[in-house]
Amino acid sequence: MKPAQKAAKDKDTWEKLWPSQSPEKSVPLLQALHILTRDGQLNADSRRKLTQVLHLTQLLRPALETLLKDGAEPVLADVGAGKSYLGFILYDLILGPTGRGSVVGVEAREQLVESSRALAASSGFDRMQFIASPIAETNLPGGRADMVTALHACDTATDDAIRFALRHEAKTIALVPCCQAEVARLLEGEHGPLRQLWRHPIQRREFGAHVTNVIRGLVLEAHGYKVRVTEFTGLEHTMKNELILAERHQRSNAQARGELNKLIDQLGVKPALLDVMTP
Ligand SMILES: C[S@@+](CC[C@H](N)C(=O)[O-])C[C@H]1O[C@@H](n2cnc3c(N)ncnc32)[C@H](O)[C@@H]1O
Repeated sequence: MKPAQKAAKDKDTWEKLWPSQSPEKSVPLLQALHILTRDGQLNADSRRKLTQVLHLTQLLRPALETLLKDGAEPVLADVGAGKSYLGFILYDLILGPTGRGSVVGVEAREQLVESSRALAASSGFDRMQFIASPIAETNLPGGRADMVTALHACDTATDDAIRFALRHEAKTIALVPCCQAEVARLLEGEHGPLRQLWRHPIQRREFGAHVTNVIRGLVLEAHGYKVRVTEFTGLEHTMKNELILAERHQRSNAQARGELNKLIDQLGVKPALLDVMTP
């Protein structure tokens, strides 16, 4: 295929992916995020990122639309935000056109926060804010975040995102966990009846990551959330592929709490996240 034909095909493809009536308006934002090249093209890496973020945007759209009902001003917190792809795209596609609601990006790296602030200002996204701070030490003004997202927040940063969501009384939480080492470390010294499940280091890492996400789901259920765990996007897009989507529907759930306690007893490990379970 000639370069000009390829460029035309790529342009056509990103516009097909982009769920907006006027995709051309989003070109400067997508270029600033390096999702599109200066010539308006998509390369393989940026296609992966765009596919992931758009998939999550579509999954979150119904919950965001519910939050936006009746003139409300929902607060969306994206924690461990990195370059804030998700926040910018949710704002561009949903909150911006609606004219209501705000996005707060929480990110430990000052430099990323500075560049996100500059991009929000140049895009005219005046209901986006960025806080340079560890998730664990961040409390939003007003103490509320209606939706909390954490996309590939490394290791226990996903647990910090869960604590953040609980203390801000989030109605919807979306987590795509990243690498996880804490439980594998705890299992190493654990010689209970199930030890064959984690005897070999590679299996301990995988089993530890799996147990971590099972515990995260049960902790959220015990706090009254309905939890769905699904594949995030195809494995060709990312290896970190588990999406934990939680929606609050009651104050607490004693049965889930019982199941969590039973699992912890059987495994003999107590990850730090259990600190959110009040006695
Ligand atoms: C793998 S990147 C993912 C970024 C973004 N969510 C995305 O999917 O493109 C993880 C980001 O989380 C940030 N991070 C990790 N631990 C954090 C913490 N405890 N508090 C705040 N930010 C954190 C890192 O600096 C990094 O930018």
